[in-house]
Amino acid sequence: MKFHSKSLRSTKARKTCIHLLIFLFFCQVVSGQPPKYRYYKEPFRPQFHFTPPIQWTNDPNGLVWFNGQYHLFYQYNPFGNRWGHMSWGHAISSDLIHWQHLPVAIPEADSVMIFSGSCVVDKNNTGGFADKNGQVPMVAIYTGHIIANPKLPDDYHQAQYIAYSLDSGKSWTKYSGNPVLDIHKKDFRDPKVFWYEPEKKWVMILVLPNEHKCQFYASPNLKTWNLLSEFGPAGDSTQIWECPDLLQVPVEGNSGNSKWVLTHSTQFTMQYFVGNFDGTKFVNENPAQKIFRPDQGPDFYAAITYNNLPEGSQPVFLGWANSWRYANDIPTYPWKSAMALPRNLSLRKVDSDWILIQKPLQKLESLRKLVFKQDSFSSKRQYDPGVKSMQFEMELKIAPGKESIAGVRIAKKAEHYLEMGYDQKTGEFYVDRSRSEHQAFNHEFDKFGRFSAKVRPINGLINLQVFIDKSVIEIYVNGGETVFTIQIFPNDDANGIEFFSSSSDAKFLNIKIWELSSIW
Ligand code: FRU
Repeated sequence: MKFHSKSLRSTKARKTCIHLLIFLFFCQVVSGQPPKYRYYKEPFRPQFHFTPPIQWTNDPNGLVWFNGQYHLFYQYNPFGNRWGHMSWGHAISSDLIHWQHLPVAIPEADSVMIFSGSCVVDKNNTGGFADKNGQVPMVAIYTGHIIANPKLPDDYHQAQYIAYSLDSGKSWTKYSGNPVLDIHKKDFRDPKVFWYEPEKKWVMILVLPNEHKCQFYASPNLKTWNLLSEFGPAGDSTQIWECPDLLQVPVEGNSGNSKWVLTHSTQFTMQYFVGNFDGTKFVNENPAQKIFRPDQGPDFYAAITYNNLPEGSQPVFLGWANSWRYANDIPTYPWKSAMALPRNLSLRKVDSDWILIQKPLQKLESLRKLVFKQDSFSSKRQYDPGVKSMQFEMELKIAPGKESIAGVRIAKKAEHYLEMGYDQKTGEFYVDRSRSEHQAFNHEFDKFGRFSAKVRPINGLINLQVFIDKSVIEIYVNGGETVFTIQIFPNDDANGIEFFSSSSDAKFLNIKIWELSSIW
């Protein structure tokens, strides 16, 4: 994002927030259990997506698995429900589905905001942060957003900082030799660091946002960094680049085979490249003139993958389910923004392109309770399955008729609904929220209502897996070949479902609807 907006720091609001945070933490310590927050009952509050109990969040940060726990750090404003005072919030999970909130991990201090970054487990103590007790250090590598004059928020520069923890992420110490990488650029951010085993070195990828470039650096100890190479401009270079990642992704069905994938955000969406990284340089092997997007919806940004996953795990990709077009104004209180569902990544070759396949974690099935099942029906016009809900998962296949448009409406109340469907004439799948019920809160939200992408019927069918979670909707088409993440803000009673088609030769097959239980 461009860093113009600043939230006001009111002393009273700050005090209230600090008290709330202390209270939440206290509940947790006393019970030893994730507390049942009354907070998770508000209008629009997602029930199986991660949200902080209160206040603003944007990018997921520092995703790392360590000692049986998945850590989720996230861009967090401890003092307000809009962007500002960026710090790292913190939650942990043993299954990536249920979360336990922890106190702020790395707070803003001394006019240095804690921007996005990553976390590594320094098993070999390359950084020398381990103490005599032999605790393995976790090291966070983040961008320090340094404000020279608080009265002039545009007067800033960015450099890379580190902090370490010797108690599994509970408490953090900022390194006294910070910053560890400063090239004296105003915009230079979002380091993702990983261990490159063939050369036993740390590799960092980060962006020069306005130059549409990623840079790669290497380090033996996380403290000194040498430039290796650059990638970009490439693909979509019309907007600033942010939040890059570089990782090996397995090729579907070809065990042992993998390719390197470079992903990054570019306002207001993301793109990826598939190719090879030789320890120094990344080379894109997909057609250079084509743009590849992990998500075709308006509300998926800043996604990165987990570091240090147990041997044999598939990569896990987690994104922010919101958009800088209107993120500060969405009508939710006292929290703002959710993370999308964690997604497993693999690669599939479709024609001459390497496509990123995203599947929501299979473990989410543990939340299911079947409420509707039907093998098939054809429907000219509409069919109501009789389920009223905004907290469910749905699977179905569409067998498109000739020149038909067929799909599903959700959040339906009279003429208001969100519509998703396959248009046989254009070969596109679309999602359209322009008729969904909501209060006017930002004209950009109204302006960007319909999203579509070419999809291919597989054996004549369009396969859908859809998650509806109050205000966050995720649609996985054809087993994760095409994905849409989109927010809507309907009133509670806009909760009907309707299957529709424009011609009677379109069919719906294997329809299942599960209510999903709340994770809170
Ligand atoms: C992306 C981003 C990052 C930055 C952070 C600040 O959403 O703009 O580039 O580090 O958010 O909150």
